[in-house]
Amino acid sequence: MTTQNKFLFWQQFQKNFFHVGAVLPSSAALGKAATFYLSEKKENIKVLEAGAGTGSFTREILPFLDAGDSLDAVEINPDLIRHLYLRFQSEPDFQVANGVDVNLINADLLQFPFNKQYDYIIFSLPMTNFPSQMVEEVLTLMMKHLKPGGVFSYVKYIFIGQVKYMYSQSETKANMKNTQEIIKRFADQYQFDRKVVGANVPPTWVHYWRKPIQDTSESDTVEE
Ligand SMILES: C[S@@+](CC[C@H](N)C(=O)[O-])C[C@H]1O[C@@H](n2cnc3c(N)ncnc32)[C@H](O)[C@@H]1O
Repeated sequence: MTTQNKFLFWQQFQKNFFHVGAVLPSSAALGKAATFYLSEKKENIKVLEAGAGTGSFTREILPFLDAGDSLDAVEINPDLIRHLYLRFQSEPDFQVANGVDVNLINADLLQFPFNKQYDYIIFSLPMTNFPSQMVEEVLTLMMKHLKPGGVFSYVKYIFIGQVKYMYSQSETKANMKNTQEIIKRFADQYQFDRKVVGANVPPTWVHYWRKPIQDTSESDTVEE
């Protein structure tokens, strides 16, 4: 992780804590954990990266992609997506194999006009900062656009939520409780694994959800 990536991320964290939600880009160890289930890939895949930042997870996704695969990396912050674009122009780790379709998309995930479903969604939006109804909305959207059998991974910082809860006003506490209940409801339905990553600031859980092949949610109505 270069100093330039860290500095830009820190600047953006100060400007927009709500969306950025972390002081530093994720470590390579966290990126490898978040993308772990891409190693199951058997045929061509479509990957969505939600909240690409400076590209810590993008770099770990790329080696899994072969001709015919695609990656849509969605990032709301224009400075971060511009930086990521430059990394694709200049860094060996961001060279893409022939026939791989990579789209860097500067958009709000919640407003993005999705027209497909994905085999893998690598998600790192800071849900602890969001109002609970936004968490419900974004998770519903993600599960809708995950293919049956597909894997969704998301990262959750260890301790940060508890510390924030301790020092929050009652309204924030109530929102955090609602958010936990919403995430638990999704996790009860979909979670099949989780891993802890100590080599990150801060240490982090990665949770993995898999959408059943026979899913009763509205996902089946999405056009390919
Ligand atoms: C915790 S950072 C993770 C960045 C990167 N994946 C990493 O691990 O270093 C969260 C990222 O999500 C982006 N983000 C937050 N809300 C978003 C939204 N609604 N749509 C798209 N990106 C969003 C932020 O700008 C930020 O880059």
